[in-house]
Formats: sequence, C-alpha cells, structure tokens
Amino acid sequence: MMRFLFFLLCSAFLLTACEDTSEVATADTAEPATETSPAPATAPDAKFRPALHFTPPFGWMNDPNGMVYYEGEYHLFYQYYPDGNVWGPMHWGHAVSSDLVSWEHLPIALYPDKLGYIFSGSAVVDFNNTSGFGEGGAPPLVAIYTYHDMAGEKAGRDDFQSQAIAYSNDKGRTWTKYAGNPVIPNQGVRDFRDPKVIWDEANAQWVMVLAAQDRVQFFGSPNLENWTLLSEFGQDARNHSGVWECPELFPLTVMETGEQAWVLNVSINPGGANGGSGTFYFPGNWDGKTFQPLREAQFSPTDTVNWVDYGRDNYAGVTFSDLPDGRRVFMGWMSNWDYARQVPTETWRSAMTVPRDLSLHETDFGTRLWQQPVKELQKLRGPVRKLDMKRLSDGVTVVDLKDLAPDGAFELDLTIDLVDSDAEELYLTLSDESGEHFYRTGYSRKSGVENAFFTDRRASGNTDVHPKFAPDRLTIAPRWSNEDHLRIHAIFDRTSAEVFFDQGDPVLTDIFFPEEPFTKLTIEVNGTSGEGMPAGWGLVEGKIWGLRRAD
Ligand code: FRU
Repeated sequence: MMRFLFFLLCSAFLLTACEDTSEVATADTAEPATETSPAPATAPDAKFRPALHFTPPFGWMNDPNGMVYYEGEYHLFYQYYPDGNVWGPMHWGHAVSSDLVSWEHLPIALYPDKLGYIFSGSAVVDFNNTSGFGEGGAPPLVAIYTYHDMAGEKAGRDDFQSQAIAYSNDKGRTWTKYAGNPVIPNQGVRDFRDPKVIWDEANAQWVMVLAAQDRVQFFGSPNLENWTLLSEFGQDARNHSGVWECPELFPLTVMETGEQAWVLNVSINPGGANGGSGTFYFPGNWDGKTFQPLREAQFSPTDTVNWVDYGRDNYAGVTFSDLPDGRRVFMGWMSNWDYARQVPTETWRSAMTVPRDLSLHETDFGTRLWQQPVKELQKLRGPVRKLDMKRLSDGVTVVDLKDLAPDGAFELDLTIDLVDSDAEELYLTLSDESGEHFYRTGYSRKSGVENAFFTDRRASGNTDVHPKFAPDRLTIAPRWSNEDHLRIHAIFDRTSAEVFFDQGDPVLTDIFFPEEPFTKLTIEVNGTSGEGMPAGWGLVEGKIWGLRRAD
C-alpha cells in the first residue's frame, strides 16, 4: 500500500514539477502501480543515485531532523520539499530503519501550516511522560522544531522564527501539533532556530540548544512545553564567518580517562573548513546551566577550529537521540549551500552521509572527536580483496572495480608505513575507464600541503554546476596524529567519498558527478628519491570490499 501511495505521489510530482525535463518524461510512463510496483525512488536519475546512502524518494532534501531510536526503529526525519527539486516550503520527510543500513520511506510526518514552514529540529522519547502527551502508559515521541513564518520574513519582521512541538503515540507514524504552539516565541532575533533537545539526567531536566544568530542559547524545561532561558554561549568564540545553525549538545565518555565530557556541535554557513557550509565542535563541560569549553584558548582568535569534517559536503549533522548503551551515531546532509540547488540530479536532490559512530579522545592535540562508519554497514560487504603488501614506490597499483563493485560502491581500508622514506605524496585516484575524469584523495608532505590530507574533485566531471563547486585548489585537512602508521578508511558510493583518516580524525566528505562511472582505483606514491633509493612508503595492510546496494 505504501509503495502504491508513493507511486501516486511521485507521478503527481513528476507531472507538475519536472515536466520540462526529458529525462523525467520517460519516468512518467513507468509501469502501472500495483502492490508490488518497484519503489519509484530508484527509477529516475539512477546514474547519480548512491547505492547505499539515504536519499529522498523524489524532491528536495536538506538537513537530517528528529533522529531518534525507539522500540527497535531508527527514525530519520529530514527537511523536505516534495513538490520540486529545489528548496521550498519545508516539511519533515520520514524514513525508518531497523539497522541503520536499509531505510523504508514513510509518509511525510509534518506539513507546513498557518504558523509557517517546518524547519529543522529534533525528537525525543518522553519516557516519563513529562509532557502528558502519552496514552495508555506508553511514552510518546515528541518532536521539537522551528516554525518559519515566510509572510513575516517577507514583511521585513525580525520575529518570524519560533519553536514548537508535536507528538506521536503510534511510533512516529502520525503526529499531532501541540495546541499551545509556539512554545518559545521569538524575541526579535532573525536567526532563531534548529532546537536540539536532550534529557539532562544529572539535573533532571530537558535541555534545548538553539542557534541564535552568532551564538547558541540553552533553555531548560520540566515538560517540553514550558521553557526557561538558562544561558548563552559563543558570541566571543570562534568561528563567526557565517550564521550559526543546527547546534547540538551531548555527553560522551573520554575513552582514555573514562570521564564524561560534553560536546557542542555548531554548523556554520558560510565559513566551513574548505568553503561554504561546515560543522565544528567545542569539547567542554555542562553544569546544568552553562557550557564551558575545555580550553580557554577556544576564545582566542588564533586558535584552531575543531572541524567535524574538512570536506565540502557534510552539513547540519546531528546525532540520534535515545540510542542504547550511550552510543552516539551522527548523520549529516551530504551537500553544501554553495551549490546544493545546482547539483545535476533531476528528480531528487541530496543524500545523507553514512551513519557514523562518534567517540571522544584525549590526544596530543587536545580532546578530539573521532568518527567511523557504523559497523552495521559491514553487512553490505562482498568478499574481501587483499592488496599485496609491498613498498609503494614508483610502481602503481591499479584495482579494477567493475566486478568488485558492480553497484559502484566500495570500502577501502589501507594502513601505510611512513618511516624511512623521502616520498612526498600518496595518491588514491578513482577514475573512469579512460582516466580522463577522476576524484583523488591522499596524503602529502610536499611544501605547501605539509603533513596534510587532501581531496581533489577538479577533474571529476560535471564540475561546472556552480563556480564554487570545484574552485582551483585542493580541499585540505591537517594530520592529527604522530603515528608512523597512517590509516585511510573510506567509503565510496558512485557520487560520494567519505574518507576517514588515521583514527577517524580528520574526515573528508565530498560529492562528485562523473559522466561515466568510476571503475578504476589507482594507488601510487610520488616523490624525490635521494641516493638512488626508490621513494616509497610501505603498504602494511590493504583491503577492499565491494558494497552491495542497501535495499
Ligand atoms: C540548515 C538550515 C537550518 C534550517 C533549515 C531550513 O541547513 O538552514 O538552519 O532550519 O536549513 O531548511
């Protein structure tokens, strides 16, 4: 039945929103809808649609919203405009998964209404029924979101964003908006949005963190309905090259000390690590009222910003609420406001990053967040292909991906020994058969890009989508490790790369749109060789798995 409904919705969308594109016209004449019709999701734009990343069935998607775990289901809501392929009146789209790998599309959860569009926000399980919304002894799910009043914005007012709640007593399938909305009216701050709520166990209160232009505001509540301003943070802290959005506060245990610390994530646009949209974090402490960053230096204008991702395409990411065992799983929107509306997909736009496990560590470079793709994704792996252990010198290793990764997705895990070499650069190049178009990532010791990782999509094909998509420079991330062994763990999925360096810090995430599929991976080392010795680094271990499509 669900598939049938989706087919109808999709057909309506295709007829109205996309009738001028030839690619879509063929999709329009797809098979008649029956109970067993294939989901319309994968038909049009199959060329660019990833094999395992979450994408909307059709229409426009941006931020992940309301991610919450309840009774064996992971819920992913998202900023959604179903009637076109560019940003428009925002809804919350909805999907569920039992394993973070396969997602089932569900009907739209929240529609815009007279108070405004439904902007980003979060969802929690109200286990103690503090809100009183629960029925029959089961806890309700409560969504906390921003209303964006378009008419107010157009009229030049400053108070057009406010915070509201809705609840569900049927595992997120249907939602009732609270009659007393908004629960936090606007006090004249233009950018006042994206509430992320947690249950603060130590202080027995709900805590909301909210973006308020150049800072975050913390609110406390006993019941999710009545909120009191607790404090503000960030006006004096880096970074302020854009507006702050989609903040999140959560606790994590520092692995090396066993102590609990807090992380405050903030998304900023523009001003990301390598341009446009980006997300950074402050490790710190939360005392129930205020947030203190761990290092006073966070306030210094020369201090380093801690980036969650140095790639161009990971924005507005947050973590799931209410996961068992203190687990923190993060997903971000795999695009960038610089060019998200121009990427060359026709009937849908944007994917999410893969879900990533977060952990917090005491390192030589301070308290830092590490990320790895969730272990659940390993179920998509085909047989492992081991690379020969050898010295990566002037020789080049080429891996044919056609049989290994028929769906265009694969995972790579390399460990490289950097000792005893005058090599300067390691290149991993993903290319089409002719080698004309490629995406490259790697490590460099060359002057100018010293002890840094990089990605390069300048020759990846379809780069003229927007002048900011592939400016003439590398995307760069510093190395945050002194180890002699360097690890590169990456997931490539037709039109995206997520590269987790060393322990999962730094991370570089990029999208690209090759005209012909990328079917070859080349591994090579470049450098000067002193004293007649070949330049080279040793390959300690190298594994590649094809990844199956996630159904
Ligand atoms: C971030 C953002 C949020 C806002 C939403 C609107 O990408 O701008 O601040 O709630 O997108 O779609």
